[in-house]
Amino acid sequence: MALDKEQRIIELRDAIRRHDRLYYVEARPEVDDRAYDRLLKELQDLETAHPELVTPDSPTQRVSGTPIGTFRTVPHARPMLSLANTYTREEVEDFDRRVREGLEGAVVRYVCELKYDGVAMSITYKDNQLALAATRGDGESGDDVTQNMRTLRSIPLVVAKQPNLSLASIENELSLNISSFEVRGEVFMLTADFIELNRVIEEREEKPYANPRNLTAGTLKQKDSRAVAARPLQFVAYFLATDDVKLTSHFDNIAILSSVGFPTSSATRRCSSLEEVFEFINDWDEKRDTLPFAIDGIVIKVDSLRQQDELGFVARSPRWAIAYKYESKKAETLLRDITLQVGRTGVVTPVAELEPVLLAGSTISRATLHNEDYIHELDLRIGDTVIVEKGGDVIPKVSGVVVAKRPADATPWHMPHVCPCPHKSPLHRPEGEAQWYCNDGTCPWQTRRTLQHFASRDAMDIDGLGDKSIDQLIDAGLLATIADIYALSQRRDEILALDRWAPKSFDRLAAGIERSKQQPYARVLFALGIRFVGEGVAKLLARAFPSIDLLQGASKDDLTNINDIGERIADSVIDYFSETPNKTLIELLRASGLQLEGEASAPVSQKFAGLTFVLTGELVSMTRREAEERIEALGGKASGSVSKKTSYLVAGESAGSKLTKAQELGVKVLSEAELKEMIDSSY
Ligand code: IVH
Repeated sequence: MALDKEQRIIELRDAIRRHDRLYYVEARPEVDDRAYDRLLKELQDLETAHPELVTPDSPTQRVSGTPIGTFRTVPHARPMLSLANTYTREEVEDFDRRVREGLEGAVVRYVCELKYDGVAMSITYKDNQLALAATRGDGESGDDVTQNMRTLRSIPLVVAKQPNLSLASIENELSLNISSFEVRGEVFMLTADFIELNRVIEEREEKPYANPRNLTAGTLKQKDSRAVAARPLQFVAYFLATDDVKLTSHFDNIAILSSVGFPTSSATRRCSSLEEVFEFINDWDEKRDTLPFAIDGIVIKVDSLRQQDELGFVARSPRWAIAYKYESKKAETLLRDITLQVGRTGVVTPVAELEPVLLAGSTISRATLHNEDYIHELDLRIGDTVIVEKGGDVIPKVSGVVVAKRPADATPWHMPHVCPCPHKSPLHRPEGEAQWYCNDGTCPWQTRRTLQHFASRDAMDIDGLGDKSIDQLIDAGLLATIADIYALSQRRDEILALDRWAPKSFDRLAAGIERSKQQPYARVLFALGIRFVGEGVAKLLARAFPSIDLLQGASKDDLTNINDIGERIADSVIDYFSETPNKTLIELLRASGLQLEGEASAPVSQKFAGLTFVLTGELVSMTRREAEERIEALGGKASGSVSKKTSYLVAGESAGSKLTKAQELGVKVLSEAELKEMIDSSY
């Protein structure tokens, strides 16, 4: 009896996997949704009755019900590189020449692919099972997003020989012998899905995403895989590596991937000549608007894997592949007005208010004009017909004026010299700078930006506190500083008395505020909006100064001793903490229970206490960051610049000026192996 059930479970799983593949990968479903749901329901019921028969690769196990706390960082088996960009025919010809020279005139074939504008992903299979999915991160290690990637039904949880596949080609024969391998590809979103999701997001009064790539990245960062499952993420595979068999051709690898059930692009072509490559480029330049997703160019790769190996890498990019980026899309539209935007640090930026126009898949109605000089250089006038352009990076810009279409009465634009806010404080433009500033510390527009930034998704991510709510709460006098956010929960009656607020939305806000208290210390640092302290710098600071008190007490030297922290950032941090209102704010945030200390950064031992290391050149056995972390874990310090105080300079491959300086100063120089020995003998 149990055997029958077991047999039925196996049948159901196979059938569901097959239908997933037919629907999500091959776009030729054989059954309708109801028939599919019936199979899934039958499987779920059987598994509920026989929990001992549930396996992780069952189609019922795609979505986990348990949200994860933080994403683990995992090293990549092979570094994830990026591509050098080209923009002209000549640059592509140069690439071809370098390849041929590097291969001493051997015959070269190229593979041309679409360059998907999404998020790079590495997926590792062990014994045919999906074992790990990781983002690119810094190329050496990325975030473990396995739980989220499992929800994509186009990605097989288990790869096995499919009985109904025709296994004609050698590639397919080969694929049967591969069981542990790494697939790389791009996670992306269809333009239509992006527009629809953004509409829903805006309806909920949350900030819409600028483009499908950001929405994809935001989705992959979700802690709860149920939220990911609800979003239509796509995947396309464009890389395979394995130690199981000897692979020879990139083009064949794509065929293998396709044969075992991964989505691949049908646009991919093998080209025997540069002429064919250009045909591919031109062909897709014309057709790219008809694609249901965004591409920002094409990728040209040497087909032979032996030749790829021979060519190798330079810095972070392979010599055997290159991206060709398409020219940006342009459109004409009317410049209705030029308004001023006040940033949280008081920078006043002119913004073009445009007649909405569709440009490469999204509607543009506003674009930054950077500063006064930019407008004068273009001689932009209100009422002009302007050219808007969108490059690969999706942020639209106004790049020119159609002077022939200028109305007779259009007059040159002049920068107002007062702030657009109700205070109307005077603006200043410091000597030698292009920006105007509002120096009024109580400027309500600055406050608004500070609060918006603090609550935003990448900062404290406060659910229920969108831009519109912030405006409304400021107007109602309930919000004037960041600290006020943490008093909002006690002002239920006043908030409920406002327009559009209901007990449910208030509860959501209160819960969002409460949850934000758990945001890690580095996020809090970023959220404060200290000038020049972006997400990356906030992480560096949090790592070097494990509590806000230590950071507050840091001297300029302490700060600039950290790798990648320069004087500009150091000055800004010191200025910030020297201002009384900011000191008061920190105390109020402490009292509200925010995380102002890092977790688990205490050194493992103090073997390296008092020692300062400077790392230079390329390390082989570990990344520089790993080396720094290990030094810090032993109580040592990693610094970016060599001085007399430096204890050791660790010289990796092709070390340059820092090594020379260390030798001049008589600083002891270690090889990578010597550093490793010191570290290993310290535990
Ligand atoms: S190959 C060294 N192929 O572009 C090989 N990348 O700058 C690197 N991308 O991080 C990857 N479509 O996110 C490759 N067909 C394609 C691609 C592609 C999009 C992205 C990928 C990568 C970036 C390279």
